[in-house]
Amino acid sequence: MSRAAVVLAAGKGTRFRSDRAKVLHTVAGRSMLRWVLEALRPLELDRVVVVVGHQADAVRAEAEAAGMDGLTFAQQDTQRGTGHAVRCAVDQGALDGMDSVVVLPGDVPLLEPEPLRRLLDDSSGAAATILSFEVDDPAGYGRLVRDRAGQVNRIVEHADADAHERAIREVNSAIYAFDAKALIGELQSLAVDNEQGEEYLTDVIAPLVPRGVGAVVAPAEIVAGVNDRVQLADAGAVLRRRVLDDLMRSGVTVVDPSATYVEAGVSVDVDVVLQPGTHLEGATSVAAGAEIGPYARVKDTTVGEGAVISYSVVTGAQIGPEATVGPYSHLRPGTRLERGAKAGEFVGMKNAVIGEGAKVPHLSYIGDADIGPGANIGAATVTVNYDGFSKHRTVVGPGARVGSDTMLVAPITIGAEAYTGAGSVITTDVPDGALAVERTEQRIIEGYAERKRARNAKPPEDRG
Ligand code: UD1
Ligand code: CA
Repeated sequence: MSRAAVVLAAGKGTRFRSDRAKVLHTVAGRSMLRWVLEALRPLELDRVVVVVGHQADAVRAEAEAAGMDGLTFAQQDTQRGTGHAVRCAVDQGALDGMDSVVVLPGDVPLLEPEPLRRLLDDSSGAAATILSFEVDDPAGYGRLVRDRAGQVNRIVEHADADAHERAIREVNSAIYAFDAKALIGELQSLAVDNEQGEEYLTDVIAPLVPRGVGAVVAPAEIVAGVNDRVQLADAGAVLRRRVLDDLMRSGVTVVDPSATYVEAGVSVDVDVVLQPGTHLEGATSVAAGAEIGPYARVKDTTVGEGAVISYSVVTGAQIGPEATVGPYSHLRPGTRLERGAKAGEFVGMKNAVIGEGAKVPHLSYIGDADIGPGANIGAATVTVNYDGFSKHRTVVGPGARVGSDTMLVAPITIGAEAYTGAGSVITTDVPDGALAVERTEQRIIEGYAERKRARNAKPPEDRG
């Protein structure tokens, strides 16, 4: 038995009012198309055909990014309906040699493998099996018309339904399993004499009834499609909650799931605590016992065991075990905090390695720098890394003590255990163990305040 899926992803999605194809819109960190492909992945189908049309190149690239076995494409240049879309795939040979076919839309991000498995199990021997669901307000959906015995006779689209049919609350999810030969045969004779002037895929159902048509009812919250941005947001809430439920069951504490945003694909180990306002995005992993938030955005970052990040933005960084970040810091790509290192409050870092136990506690910018283990960087220190043409590196040796408000004009090296005086602009290398001070001698001007007061008390014309 060779099995294929055909994912319909050629439409524009008019109700999104977007320049981007509907299936490319993202929800909970993945495009809708990607969510659908991920639901198909565990079924290990022999072939997955994505029908592309609107913004074909971008949709194709997004599908390819999923890295799925058996992925192929079919082109539908003009969108003449769901039946026409499948016919394009057939005419382009996409279903050659396949025995059974799952057809589904690209806009069902809530889909899970389970109802698809049930659909495939139930479909053996039938020409068509429809995944249906029940809704209170069926407006817009195709209705399943059953006879007195409960046998599905046909699907009628909302636009073509009469008042009696419109009252039916069992609707078509647009997810089906077909016997490939039966489907291909019926696609050749689809009429367009309907309200929308389209080739409806749903029109293959009625003529297939003599060869066996069934339906499997699935939960609406899994198979319902997304047609506008209101439904997209609703789907996002469901998907995020699924991700968080999995994490909580695997040993992660989520203090307030309604205010925690973890994208699919992020990995979080046991005994991590996620405080409200935490966003974990992209290729991020968080090791055991770390605490993130309140209010942190962490993207494409590895966080080590027991590290703490609060009220901060961290992107493309490596945060070592027991390291601490924030509150109120911004760590940009290429930042690496080694074990126990600290980026305290109001610290900006970029392309910088902060050695084991080294500390940058307050109000500093550290860019293009290597800070040695155990070094301490005084408040308001700045690596002056840019001369207007190129970036230069700052190296601070192990155990060095950089005084507050030091400007480290790169390229520069501060030796091991060396010191800089507060307020210095350091432009030449400092040897190991030395002190570098750059500031004028302090002067004391006695009685200054009193003389100033006396001068200001005279009328303006007498002021000297
Ligand atoms: C379709 C079903 C309807 C079902 C509903 C569930 C038909 C005729 N109707 O209606 O019974 O209740 O889904 O949401 O099938 N597409 C193409 N090429 C086209 C047209 C559509 O690739 O020419 C793709 C779209 O990109 C989309 C999917 O097919 O991913 C569904 O199309 P859409 O227009 O949303 O169908 P509905 O009107 O919602
Ligand atoms: Ca100064």
